[in-house]
Amino acid sequence: MSTTLISPSILSADFAQLGNEIEAIEQAGCDWVHIDVMDGHFVPNLTIGADVCAALKPHIKTVMDVHLMIEPADPYLQSFADAGADNISVHPEACLHLDRTLQVIRDLGCKAGAALNPSTSETVLQYVLDRLDMVIVMSVNPGFGGQSFLDSQVEKIRRLKAMIGDRDILIEVDGGINPITAPLVVAAGADVLVAGSAVFGKGAQSVATYQANIKAIRDAADTVRS
Ligand code: DX5
Ligand code: ZN
Repeated sequence: MSTTLISPSILSADFAQLGNEIEAIEQAGCDWVHIDVMDGHFVPNLTIGADVCAALKPHIKTVMDVHLMIEPADPYLQSFADAGADNISVHPEACLHLDRTLQVIRDLGCKAGAALNPSTSETVLQYVLDRLDMVIVMSVNPGFGGQSFLDSQVEKIRRLKAMIGDRDILIEVDGGINPITAPLVVAAGADVLVAGSAVFGKGAQSVATYQANIKAIRDAADTVRS
C-alpha cells in the first residue's frame, strides 16, 4: 500500500514561532512543509516572502514546498530557489509564458509545479505536462486558510489523473482537507494533501496533537488508497 504524503500549510501555524512549529510538525511525522506565499494582489492576503523562507530553511529537514500566489511570479523565482525551496509551484494565471516559467524553475534545481484555481481547467496544462513535477489542485479559492472544501474539484482531480497517465507527476490537493475530505480526493487520484487548519488548529499546540491530526488525515486517506 502506498502512502499519501501530507504537507501541512504553515499558514495556520503560530507565526511568532514558525521555526518551532515546523520542527513540531516534522517530529509529528509530516512529509513536506507547505509555505503559502501571497502578495495581496493575485490573492487578497499578504503573507511571507523569500527572506522568511530562507530563515526557515534550517528548520526544515523534509521538503520545502513553496506555493507562490503572486503575480508576476517570474522575477521572484531565483530568490525562492536561493532561499532553499525544493518545490516551487506557480499559478498559470500569474505567468504569461508558463512553459518558460516551468523550465526556469527546473533550471534553478527545483521541482516545478502548477497550481490551478477552482475555476481554472486542467486543460491549461495539456501542452506543458513534460515540464511538470507536480500539479496543485486548489480545492478552495486561494487566499485564506480554514475555508470549506469545494466538491467541484474532485472531478478535476480525476480528469487530471487521466491526463497525466503514466508520467511522473504528483497531484497535490490544497484547501479544506481534513479526515472527511481526504478520502474523496485520494480516491480521485491525489498523491499529496496540504492541510492547514486540520493540522495546526489555531497553532502552537503540542507535537502529540499535531501527530494525532496528521495521523487522522493519513489514516482516512489510506482507507481508499491501494
Ligand atoms: C490557501 C492556501 C492553502 C491553505 C490551506 O490559499 O494555499 O494552503 O492554507 O488551509 P486549510 O487546510 O485550512 O484549507
Ligand atoms: Zn497552498
